[in-house]
Amino acid sequence: MAAMRDLPFPFVLICLVFIRGYCPLPTTSQVTEMNPTGPVRSRGVSPEAHVLPPEDYYEGEETTTPIVPDRRSPDGGTSERCDYNPCSENQTPCAELAAATNCLCPGLPSHDDPPETPSLRSVSWNGSEVVLHWCAPNSHVTEYVVTVGGQDRKTFGKEQRSGALGDINNIAEVCVVAVNDAGNSDGSCMMYRPVDNSLPLKAGLIGGALGFLLLLLLAVLLWRRKRQRKQEASISMHNTAGTQ
Ligand SMILES: *[C@@H]1O[C@H](CO)[C@@H](O)[C@H](O)[C@H]1NC(C)=O
Repeated sequence: MAAMRDLPFPFVLICLVFIRGYCPLPTTSQVTEMNPTGPVRSRGVSPEAHVLPPEDYYEGEETTTPIVPDRRSPDGGTSERCDYNPCSENQTPCAELAAATNCLCPGLPSHDDPPETPSLRSVSWNGSEVVLHWCAPNSHVTEYVVTVGGQDRKTFGKEQRSGALGDINNIAEVCVVAVNDAGNSDGSCMMYRPVDNSLPLKAGLIGGALGFLLLLLLAVLLWRRKRQRKQEASISMHNTAGTQ
């Protein structure tokens, strides 16, 4: 039957659609599998291609450098800067370090002023929740308020530098605001885009639907051709019957 001979064609198309949909996955895993320090022989990729030197490999990684302190000390001395990282959690407040060891803190404005803006570093989905990380401003802070889409969402303690927000379903602006008795800082914000977990599923569905449509088209074409042939046959039969 002609239909049986023609059937594999749509299946090849479906397979092509699937391969197109999934192709980027093996490619990226190929890149991450490469060892940047050693010669690489990877499936079909020449050793020199795409191998980044280690420095480039780590480019873009977040580096949390402590804020450079104000070098002027109150007594004009040459104290060391305090061992204080504004991005780390649960530290001894810098003021206490300064009092204990006479080290230098980043400039601390007076308690009568609202805090300076903290620095939001990341907002990401960790597999079960949206998690954000931020760094403290050089200010007196009593708490941090996180807003999602302009609405207050959650409050975190002054020693915290990260927190979970639960789920966020829409693209939304996430901001962290430092608060003290004098008021609020400006928000440090990032756009959060929910990860689309259903991408492979969507690709599969689209591929399947396309394949189905092609099959349908093919069936209709075959059916029309068959009908045409039948008509032609009946016409010619009719004609032969007419001439006899
Ligand atoms: C995501 O973050 C929350 C809060 O920090 C934590 O409780 C949870 O275990 C994390 N999930 C994963 C998969 O790491």
